[in-house]
Amino acid sequence: MKSYNFSPFSLFFIIPFLALHFHASTTEAQVPQKATFTVYNQGDFGEYITEYDAGYRILRHDEDIFFAFPFRLCFYNTTPGEFILGLRAGVPNDEDLMRWVWDANRNHPVKENATFSLGRDGNLVLANPDGRIVWQTNTANKGVTGFKLLSNGNMVLHDKKGKFIWQSFDYPVDTLLVGMSVRRNGINKLVSRTSDVDGRDGKYSLVLENNGFNLYLNNSGKLIAYNGWGQDPSNRLTSIRFNAEPIDQDPKSAGWELLLEQFNEAKPPPPPRRSLLQSFPVGRDSTIILRKVNYNASISFFRLGSDGNVRVFTYFDKVPYLKWSETWAFFSSYYVRECGQPEKCGAFGLCQKGMCVACPSPKGLLGWSDVCAPPTLKPCSAAGKVDYYKIVGVEHFLNRESTGNGEGPITVEACRDKCNKDCECKGFVYKQDIKKCLRLPVLGTLIRDANTSTAYIKYSL
Ligand SMILES: *[C@@H]1O[C@H](CO)[C@@H](O)[C@H](O)[C@H]1NC(C)=O
Ligand SMILES: *[C@@H]1O[C@H](CO)[C@@H](O)[C@H](O)[C@H]1NC(C)=O
Ligand SMILES: *[C@@H]1O[C@H](CO)[C@@H](O)[C@H](O)[C@H]1NC(C)=O
Ligand SMILES: *[C@@H]1O[C@H](CO)[C@@H](O)[C@H](O)[C@H]1NC(C)=O
Repeated sequence: MKSYNFSPFSLFFIIPFLALHFHASTTEAQVPQKATFTVYNQGDFGEYITEYDAGYRILRHDEDIFFAFPFRLCFYNTTPGEFILGLRAGVPNDEDLMRWVWDANRNHPVKENATFSLGRDGNLVLANPDGRIVWQTNTANKGVTGFKLLSNGNMVLHDKKGKFIWQSFDYPVDTLLVGMSVRRNGINKLVSRTSDVDGRDGKYSLVLENNGFNLYLNNSGKLIAYNGWGQDPSNRLTSIRFNAEPIDQDPKSAGWELLLEQFNEAKPPPPPRRSLLQSFPVGRDSTIILRKVNYNASISFFRLGSDGNVRVFTYFDKVPYLKWSETWAFFSSYYVRECGQPEKCGAFGLCQKGMCVACPSPKGLLGWSDVCAPPTLKPCSAAGKVDYYKIVGVEHFLNRESTGNGEGPITVEACRDKCNKDCECKGFVYKQDIKKCLRLPVLGTLIRDANTSTAYIKYSL
């Protein structure tokens, strides 16, 4: 075995060299003093209207590094004293709502006087005034030399070569900006807010799986698939990117497409643009065209809302006011029927052609209002007697062509018997023509349909 002998003489040379080298590598890993910052959550609130009716404070900095048109980093709140560090899209003189498109800490709001800071070690930290860290990028000593907010809304920590060590685009919340992806090997889903006032994780999620994007409803801990683009599991998708692109290079052509680009592990990136004649819904190749719009749609976002719908909004600053437009929605007159949205009619209601038309009750169909609710069931036990009331000519938002209509063929009596024995079963839809039985773990929206389908709603006697 070879051994190394250092004479005291050679060590004399090596030690200073090592020390120098060590010194050099730690300085190159540091953020220069002038690029560090600490911003406090204090001071005046902005006076313009923002989404969720939120109050906001812009992050102040001498070089305005927290702004890249039309994006600005702010502290915002919908509850007094509970602040979220978020990215706003839109500027005050838009005469329109400014929108919140990314959050750092929505499940863990910070207090008055919280700090947002980039230290010399390169870690970006959001902390409460007591020093408790609420959110951080975990990038200490990883070569970060600076922070940038890019014009596409991506917030990045880069090294001295400009390589991104961390980027907000890897951490989608409920919104994808143009160019942002969900990935199987990262954050693989969007999660809705609870409501406009409550920004914490809500009950809807849009999850990337082998077969594509699937929409789930979290029904007290159990995930129920209620729609989506999920196709063939053999697609083995690894990521989906939201994009907006001009249809062709002709500057006179104003056509842009809003797209979902699907990528998988084996196949190369998607083929070039399809022809416009290709029909809209659900992509046969790897790109899903959501919509074509007739103006520059490069500033757009794709969001899963607290109502379980997915919408795209586009910012067009060449108009004098109302610069945001809803340019696409999943449950809409131009995509998937609006009555398919789980809570289109609140907790319970009968939906026809996109409108809530009745409150189904044991006494028959009453006028719908937002207090319409399913019957409250007594705790499930063998002794508890139940019965059903019947609504003819309806199906449920869980009746979908892609996932079938439940089990069968079975008789309506057998279907009822299964629901009787199933404590989770709130009722069922029976399709007379194909003798299929769909038990319902949640009620929500019933959909007016042909007379081949009947809903049975369970109630306690
Ligand atoms: C926030 O800090 C300022 C001083 O910077 C102080 O005057 C104020 O009382 C603090 N507010 C709270 C709620 O701690
Ligand atoms: C579903 O919601 C429950 C709260 O009702 C929560 O504890 C759980 O983490 C959620 N599950 C998922 C997968 O989102
Ligand atoms: C579309 O708008 C963006 C942002 O305003 C701009 O940078 C880009 O040049 C525009 N593209 C075209 C083709 O007009
Ligand atoms: C559906 O059933 C209702 C009530 O039973 C009846 O009034 C209606 O005419 C039927 N419609 C069709 C198309 O069969």
